[in-house]
This record gives sequence, C-alpha cells and structure tokens, in this order.
Amino acid sequence: MKALVYHGPGQRGWDTVADPTLIDPTDAVVRIDSSTICGTDLHILKGDVPETTPGTVLGHEAVGTVMEIGTGVSTVAVGDRVLVSCVSACGRCRFCRERRYGQCLGGGGWILGHTIDGLQAEYARVPFADGSLHHVPEQLSDEQVLFLADILPTSYEVGVLNGMVAPGDTLAIVGVGPIGLAAILTARLYTPGRIVAIDLDDSRLESAARFGADTTINNGREDPIARVMELTDGLGADVAFEAVGVPETFELTTELIRPGGRVANMGVHGVPATLHLEKLWIRDVTITTGLVDTHTIPQLMRLVASGRLDPTIFATHRFALGDTMSAYDAFSDAASTGALKVVLEGAERPRGANGRVAADLVAGQA
Ligand SMILES: NC(=O)c1ccc[n+]([C@@H]2O[C@H](COP(=O)([O-])OP(=O)(O)OC[C@H]3O[C@@H](n4cnc5c(N)ncnc54)[C@H](O)[C@@H]3O)[C@@H](O)[C@H]2O)c1
Ligand SMILES: [Zn+2]
Ligand SMILES: [Zn+2]
Repeated sequence: MKALVYHGPGQRGWDTVADPTLIDPTDAVVRIDSSTICGTDLHILKGDVPETTPGTVLGHEAVGTVMEIGTGVSTVAVGDRVLVSCVSACGRCRFCRERRYGQCLGGGGWILGHTIDGLQAEYARVPFADGSLHHVPEQLSDEQVLFLADILPTSYEVGVLNGMVAPGDTLAIVGVGPIGLAAILTARLYTPGRIVAIDLDDSRLESAARFGADTTINNGREDPIARVMELTDGLGADVAFEAVGVPETFELTTELIRPGGRVANMGVHGVPATLHLEKLWIRDVTITTGLVDTHTIPQLMRLVASGRLDPTIFATHRFALGDTMSAYDAFSDAASTGALKVVLEGAERPRGANGRVAADLVAGQA
C-alpha cells in the first residue's frame, strides 16, 4: 500500500510500504476513507518529537471502513464505517477506567502516527479497536466527523471543560489556529457572553470572527491585556485559553484573567514558561493542563448528528489521499494558503453521505 512516511527531520515520502496486518487479537485493520494533517505532524517533521522514529507512517485522524478484526474485537464488525480516535484506549487500565485514555497504561494513548504507524495511508492497523473506533451514523459525511478525531475533543476537553466555561463568561483565546478555533466552536455550546480572539496573524483572526469570535485583537499591533481589561470593566476574562504553546502566550493568558478566573492551557510546550506565582497566588486562579482523552467523541458526534455543531467549517482544502505530499505543502504554508484543515480523500471512500460525494471534491481542488 501507499503511505506518508516520516524519514527524519524535514523528510517525508509517499512510499510503498507493507500492508498492515492484525498483530494482537484486539486489533482491527481499517481502510482509510478520509484523513487529515495535524499541526503535530509538522512538529514531528521538524524533529521535535524524538519518539517518532524514521520509517513511521504519520497521521492520527481518520474515517475509515473496517476490513479485518482480531478475535478479541467485539464492538465493530467488518464493513463498519468508523472514526478512528487520535488516542487509543486499552479500556482496562486505571486511567482508561477514569476515561483518561490519553494517559492509558495498557499500551494505548497517543500511539498512532507517533510510536506506531498511523493513518495517512491506504490502510492502517488500529490497536484496541473496541476502545479506539467509533461508529459513524450513516447520514453523516466523513467530513462532518473527521475533525472529531483530534481537534474538536482537544479543545472541548482540554479547553472548554477544563476551563469550566459557563453561560455569560468572557473568554480570551490566545492563538486561533485550528485548536483555538475549535475552542471557539465548542465554547459556543455554552453560550459565552463574549469571545475574544488574540493572534498575530490577521487571516487567522478573520477565521476566528467567522467561527464566532466577537472581538479580535492582533497582539502584534495592540496591547491585548489593555483591550481585555477595557472590555471587562478592568477585571479580566473569566477563562483564558492558551492555544499556541510558547512561554510568552502562556504568560499572557495568566495576565488576562480576572480574580477567580481559569487558564486552560492547550498548547504543547517545548521549553519552560514562567509562572508568576508572586502575582497570581492572591488571585484565586485555576490553571489546568491536559492531553486530549477523546472521551467526548460520542457526545460531539451526537451534536453533529443533531445539527448543533458543524465542524465542516474547518475544511479549507481537499486532496486525493494519493496527493498527500501536496497536501502537506499546502498545510505547512498556511500563511499563504489560508489552510485550516486539509481533507485527504481515499479512492474508495463511500459516496452519498449527506450529498458530499467524492465526485465534486476533485483531487487537489481547494
Ligand atoms: N493538549 C493537547 O492534547 C493538544 C492536542 C493537539 C494540539 N495541541 C497544541 O495546541 C497548539 C495549537 O495547535 P494548532 O494546530 O492550532 O497550531 P497552529 O500553529 O496552527 O496555530 C497557532 C496559532 O497561534 C498563533 N500565534 C503564534 N504565536 C503567537 C503569539 N505570540 N501570540 C498570539 N498568537 C500567536 C499563530 O499565528 C497561529 O494562528 C499547539 O501547541 C499544538 O501542539 C495540543
Ligand atoms: Zn493532532
Ligand atoms: Zn488503558
């Protein structure tokens, strides 16, 4: 089969590799019908993720069709259309029993496209199929559910739920890439009073406004702290989300919140950030961190099915799966292409779901 293979920092190829097979009884082999690229894949390609060794197939988000199941798989059958979660869950360990699948001790967690071969491929082996695959309702298109594999649950769980967003809250979102934008989309389920988006990139701020931000601030030109204070009678936001992953934006979020406010850090940090405890200790603040567990996928899928949530707004570019190399070029040059999420479409993906058929989504057409 063909797959997108990581060959070490800066190097990738669309290569012929061995077809995946069942290894453990709890495995399934899935044909990839739709996949996508994550900012984390770009981190791997930069060489920031040393656990990912050259030769690994990348990708941790997909919708597919079950082709084979091991003898220990009981909740999915051959032919089922499934969403593959970016996090695999053994279902048995202490953390899986607490729905902290990201912390799985039984061999799961974020393994796909990280420590084992991933989903930007024609086929993939999915370990712990019972805990890692979700049935997709027939009426939903691949594109309606694809982004529930990673970005929506990340922002909902690590942002909105950890940040305890409540109706009427003022939210400040620092960084409105896909993760910050998904935080806007899922926070709106709670009817916040005001959503303030902060980014250095005007095109990202335009997207934020389209996703539902009420106020946008370019912190390259304007002082975001002064603006947020002005909007909140000098108190600060109820909740601030960090969705970049660098020290300055983390430090900024802690300055944007009111006494008793919450900082929900979503960014992946590679270097230490300063926690100004000397200023924060007296302000009753809460700071949370987290790796996505994807335990909210079923809930988010119901919201999509009922028309309350529409993640298709993320799909800015579409490519045939065989053209994944070009998709990487477009995604990694988001500043000029405006890419939010690219959809990679397998050749044999089922047609007809919600009228979104492969025919009108010609290879490489944005
Ligand atoms: N916690 C988790 O489980 C989890 C899961 C997925 C992704 N992430 C992380 O979330 C973060 C965001 O992901 P993404 O895919 O949206 O990334 P992205 O790079 O596409 O978006 C980041 C945004 O931050 C903006 N930005 C950069 N520096 C800034 C600054 N100083 N001030 C304001 N804005 C700034 C950029 O213009 C961009 O729009 C990353 O760190 C990613 O690794 C975490
Ligand atoms: Zn990801
Ligand atoms: Zn587990």
